[in-house]
Amino acid sequence: MKGIKKLCLVTLLLAFTSSVFAAAAKVDFIYDMPKVDLRDQASLQRGAKYFMNYCSGCHGMQYMRYSQMAEGIGMTDADGQVAEAIVLANLVFSGERVGDQIKAAMTKEQGKQYFGINIPDLTLGAKVRKPEWIYNYLLGFYPDDTRQWGTNNAVFHDVAMPNVFSDLQGLQVPVTRILYYDDDNRPVEEIIGFELVREGTHTPEEFQQAMYDLVNFMSFASDPKKLKRQRIGVIVILFLIVFTMLAYLLKREYWKNIKK
Ligand code: HEC
Repeated sequence: MKGIKKLCLVTLLLAFTSSVFAAAAKVDFIYDMPKVDLRDQASLQRGAKYFMNYCSGCHGMQYMRYSQMAEGIGMTDADGQVAEAIVLANLVFSGERVGDQIKAAMTKEQGKQYFGINIPDLTLGAKVRKPEWIYNYLLGFYPDDTRQWGTNNAVFHDVAMPNVFSDLQGLQVPVTRILYYDDDNRPVEEIIGFELVREGTHTPEEFQQAMYDLVNFMSFASDPKKLKRQRIGVIVILFLIVFTMLAYLLKREYWKNIKK
């Protein structure tokens, strides 16, 4: 009995400390991202289009094939087969076939030569960084003359990636507040928001929606079987409930005439 009490206490303590650490690790982002919705296939399809048009030049998603992607985001015909012609026309730009892996147009060596690092594959991008992080990352580029590509980022300081959406988003400058002064009396600042100084082709709301769609798609790519798994999970639980009821009824039937 004592052992069980101790075990309960330790479990409670562990749960408490882990929740405290989880709360402490929470970052305050500038933008709140609406919840990922893997059922919204229109959003996933728009996100895939943004990815293929704006990201796949540098980043691959090589642990997924075009066909798997198309199936998962609902680009299928009435028979449930991948709509090959539509996928090839809208999402495949480098002469690959539908069964091929989604590779970046740029080779590893070229990436290293131009950017000085290995450009990460983004199949698991939304697992490595959380969706909220990527959402704020994509919305957080601002001009910075000291950087190689003339741009910096609010959540990934001194990033080596250029701002690929400046036409859509326009130009924004950071709004900062002084956190404290360092030993040399220089202000240490924090970015708390952005001010649009040149409009893009999209309104801020339209651009945020576009970035949501893109992150939604990246979340799908990082776990393409999630919806299917959840569906099977529900069926298994329902089966177990029905089976338990049947087993109970059977047990009652067996014990009916047995005197205790
Ligand atoms: C011109 C090449 C280029 C394009 C186009 C590009 N990126 Fe990048 N991206 C990079 C480079 C280089 C890095 C590495 C930055 C670093 O580590 O400083 C990077 C890093 C990232 C990261 C951070 C990865 C990590 O976990 O460290 C994410 C997320 C990302 N890119 C998403 C995107 C998305 C989404 C798009 C399309 C809208 C895109 N990128 C388009 C070059 C590119």
